[in-house]
Amino acid sequence: MDEKKVIFSGAQPSGKMTLGNYLGAIKNWTLLQDEYECYYSVVDLHAITVPQKPEVLRNNTIELLAQYIACGLDPEKNTIFIQSHVKEHLELMWVLNTMTYMGELNRMTQFKDKAKKSEENLNAGLFTYPVLMAADILLYQADLVPVGEDQRQHMEIARDLANRFNNRYSETFTIPEGYMPKEGARIMSLQDPTKKMSKSDSDPNGYILLADDSDAIVKKIKKSVTDSLGVVKYSDEQPGIKNLLDICANFSGRDPQDIAAQYEGKGYGAFKTDVAEIVVEYLRPIKEKYDYMLANKDYLRDIYLAGDVKAQEKASKTLKAVYEKVGFIPR
Ligand code: TRP
Repeated sequence: MDEKKVIFSGAQPSGKMTLGNYLGAIKNWTLLQDEYECYYSVVDLHAITVPQKPEVLRNNTIELLAQYIACGLDPEKNTIFIQSHVKEHLELMWVLNTMTYMGELNRMTQFKDKAKKSEENLNAGLFTYPVLMAADILLYQADLVPVGEDQRQHMEIARDLANRFNNRYSETFTIPEGYMPKEGARIMSLQDPTKKMSKSDSDPNGYILLADDSDAIVKKIKKSVTDSLGVVKYSDEQPGIKNLLDICANFSGRDPQDIAAQYEGKGYGAFKTDVAEIVVEYLRPIKEKYDYMLANKDYLRDIYLAGDVKAQEKASKTLKAVYEKVGFIPR
């Protein structure tokens, strides 16, 4: 029997998901669920590397879980779980911490950026964040890790640590590979199409949330920044229009150039109306499922409890092997 390859990925419960998060990550996860053995975690341990209000963190964690499922991750096919419920992540992290060089963590551009921005809270967790991420991945013997381009360096550390451990002790970890989405999935801000769509944007008109209602979506798309050329063309000179075409293409599975051709001689108004309708209709069932689950939290609880058990089963096997190899006496 051919064993399925293993996929691991996670997202931080740091607020509601945007259209960009969906198209750049979760949508791809749903395409993998039949072919791979998939583990998807809500990485709440990572989230506390920046200060969190406990109540907000709890809500965000549940909401992210609900979004995973609303977006089409089938809890029967995937192991969906909460990172802090599987203590093996922290235990493996400790072992890996002792094998990670200060120098390699110092080189992480994400740490350097965060260090610049959050000097008043420059905690050790931010520094060792990539080691926890490596532990996440290596515990499940993941072959592939779907992540954004911004996680490339962190993936390198995970691979280096796996190799280092295997060389120092013996073959233990699968060497994971990053699985980066194609450029096409990069969705830009509706207010500044040269910047990535992000929920940390100070202007909420810049992003669409999966949880936005139809009216809000229509308004945001109508208000989106375009240009004064007045022709719907898929071109880098018209980043606003290009972004709307990309959104449309992603949701309809059509070629952006073909979509543009359909609007020859028509203005931006008609185009925006159609884009808004496509987005609203696509998100409608997702939103309905999401609202249903948040109103039925017991159902969500059953899902993560079952996921926690399945995740821990696999994680504890790996950790046991690691502890033995390191020289800890089994209890
Ligand atoms: N660092 C990732 C991010 O911010 C989230 C994450 C944590 C992750 N652990 C992971 C992603 C393991 C993939 C695999 O996007």
